[in-house]
Amino acid sequence: MRSSVTEQDISQIPTHVAIIMDGNGRWAEQRNRPRLFGHKAGVDSVRAVVEAAREIGVRYLTLYAFSTENWQRPMQEVSGLMGLLKVYLQAELKTMLQNGVRLSCLGQQERLPDDVRQTLAMVMEQTACCRGMTLNLALSYGGRNEMMRAVRALARKCVAGELDWRRLDEEMLAAHLDTAGQPDPDLLIRTGGEHRLSNFLLWQASYSELYFTETMWPDFRKKEFLEALATYGRRQRRFGRTGAQLQG
Ligand code: FPP
Repeated sequence: MRSSVTEQDISQIPTHVAIIMDGNGRWAEQRNRPRLFGHKAGVDSVRAVVEAAREIGVRYLTLYAFSTENWQRPMQEVSGLMGLLKVYLQAELKTMLQNGVRLSCLGQQERLPDDVRQTLAMVMEQTACCRGMTLNLALSYGGRNEMMRAVRALARKCVAGELDWRRLDEEMLAAHLDTAGQPDPDLLIRTGGEHRLSNFLLWQASYSELYFTETMWPDFRKKEFLEALATYGRRQRRFGRTGAQLQG
């Protein structure tokens, strides 16, 4: 039997890791428990992965916690998730400050319940000076929605005469996304056995290495995270070039 991966087996640490945390509902259903039971166990995985990422030196970690499409779920599940998020933020603030983790938010915060927004704002403000790792929570987030908001902001500047449309380029669009100023994800992980992006970081993931695992999110802990990082370390990133060009 192969022993599990350790920090020493990881040849290169990705600067930015993004994760689609899928499988909470199925994990709970397999145990004849309500879906929220799976989300609660998922919060423990969030804690474990944030801690492991910080420990190993990942600089940006982006977690897809709630998509624009997730609003369509039963009201009870939506409010349960919002409650878990608020409790998580309140409980983690001290640890985040101790570990130098800065909280940031991607998505339409204005759609979130007032109490969650207030808690997010408080934690973001208090951790603004942290420099160890940025934790992006994607909340009420959709990649297409994010791009539309960026395009609208640019169009408004053009109409107002602040910007010449001929100067528009990729860099300028990227600077109007929720991830402005952050590097694109090097590694994008999806748990839960599905092989799709589900409207996550559509612009930013252009050259991300993709890693899919059957493991349901509540079972994805430090060991599984290190395995994903070790796999990433064995990949050759060519960015459209040939292998020979990279060696030369
Ligand atoms: C997808 O699983 C997961 C979600 C929609 C929510 C993820 C939320 C958490 C892990 C907990 C709260 C987050 C934080 C940051 C504290 P699913 O419900 O779609 O699973 P399924 O595909 O098995 O139904």
